[in-house]
Amino acid sequence: MTMNERARAVLRGNDRGGYTIPTDGLYPYQWNWDSAFSALGFATFDRARAWEELEKLFEAQWPNGMVPHIIFRADEPGYFPGPSIWQADMGPMPSSGISQPPVVASVIRALAEAEPEQAAGFIKRIDAWHEWWHRARDPKGTGVIAITHPWESGRDNLPDWDRPGDMIDVSGVGEYTRSDTSLVDNDMRPEKQDYDRYLALVYFGRERQWDPEKIAVENPFFVADPGITSILLRAEKDLHVLARGAGHETARIEDRITRLENGLELLWNEDAGGYVARDMRSGDQSRRASAASFLPLYAGILTHKEELLTTLREFAERVRYLVPSFDPRDEHFDHIRYWRGPAWAMINFMIANGLRDIGEYNWADRIRSDTRELIRNGGFAEYFSPIDGRGCGGGTFSWTAAIWLAWELDE
Ligand code: GLC
Repeated sequence: MTMNERARAVLRGNDRGGYTIPTDGLYPYQWNWDSAFSALGFATFDRARAWEELEKLFEAQWPNGMVPHIIFRADEPGYFPGPSIWQADMGPMPSSGISQPPVVASVIRALAEAEPEQAAGFIKRIDAWHEWWHRARDPKGTGVIAITHPWESGRDNLPDWDRPGDMIDVSGVGEYTRSDTSLVDNDMRPEKQDYDRYLALVYFGRERQWDPEKIAVENPFFVADPGITSILLRAEKDLHVLARGAGHETARIEDRITRLENGLELLWNEDAGGYVARDMRSGDQSRRASAASFLPLYAGILTHKEELLTTLREFAERVRYLVPSFDPRDEHFDHIRYWRGPAWAMINFMIANGLRDIGEYNWADRIRSDTRELIRNGGFAEYFSPIDGRGCGGGTFSWTAAIWLAWELDE
């Protein structure tokens, strides 16, 4: 089988009937941004299936506009924490009570060129979701979007969440059995202290019926994320193109774009050489750059372009494969532990496309070819060591296969 054939087989194999799971066993439900990237992969060989994926994602949209991070369609007793722990039944079907990086508008814009009418059918629903991000996760209008749970960032155990996480009281968490560590090597997964915090935040949210207003005020964890903020800004710009093309009113979208463009500077950290998380309770900033530090470029923000390219060069001196998820010069860097160092195909895709769009072709090509080599050698793994290139975490992973196809890495 060619790599392209294998990639298609991974997506088909993870298809559960109109929606795609990230990988069997470890992640047996529909995850939000995984699903959006899967649609991008399907679009290269089955357009109808790509649109179906996106429809299925929005089927779970809450009345308040939120599109949840996990949709619990089938019952999978092997997964923890499942629907009975989340108790988030505010939407049309069981789901988690938080969201995930809003890449959907950007995916739909990519599909819209060939099928503008299909795309137009999503504009209102995307608009409601984007509006939710501003209202629920930036109620004071600072222009930066906060996450209320590390899982909401999509970058679960990034060291940026360590210090803000100290404020989380884990005394009520009690005993529990994780399912992930029996499926994947312990060294590659978040640690127990992280997991205690993840659960404490789930209990906190469910006690408030996942009410975003209460959560914005009371949640012990409310941390502005350069990842979500940049991905949303890029998505707002893509939504703007879709809305204008379909003849919709765009003033509201323009306001949101301006707010985010002005806000991002709050996350700039000169010493780190990048955009970093900011704890919105204490005002503290993270001290080190991460892969998300480069995403403002993907959102078209060029204010600190030169400094960011310097940081990227420094990263490149320390690792064989770009882009490590966390600064490889830091003591917390760990090349195989999830978001504390490893490289991820879909993050590379966004960073490289951003660099290409601003004319940084050499860097864009370097990241693309690193990604190709990682996947060729390491397989369709969940993520990769940026040091030795080994494939880590789960295997036969949807978004890695999708990026292989969407980026035409076979050429
Ligand atoms: C992990 C990742 C997250 C992803 C999910 C399913 O939680 O951190 O980004 O969406 O797994 O693949």
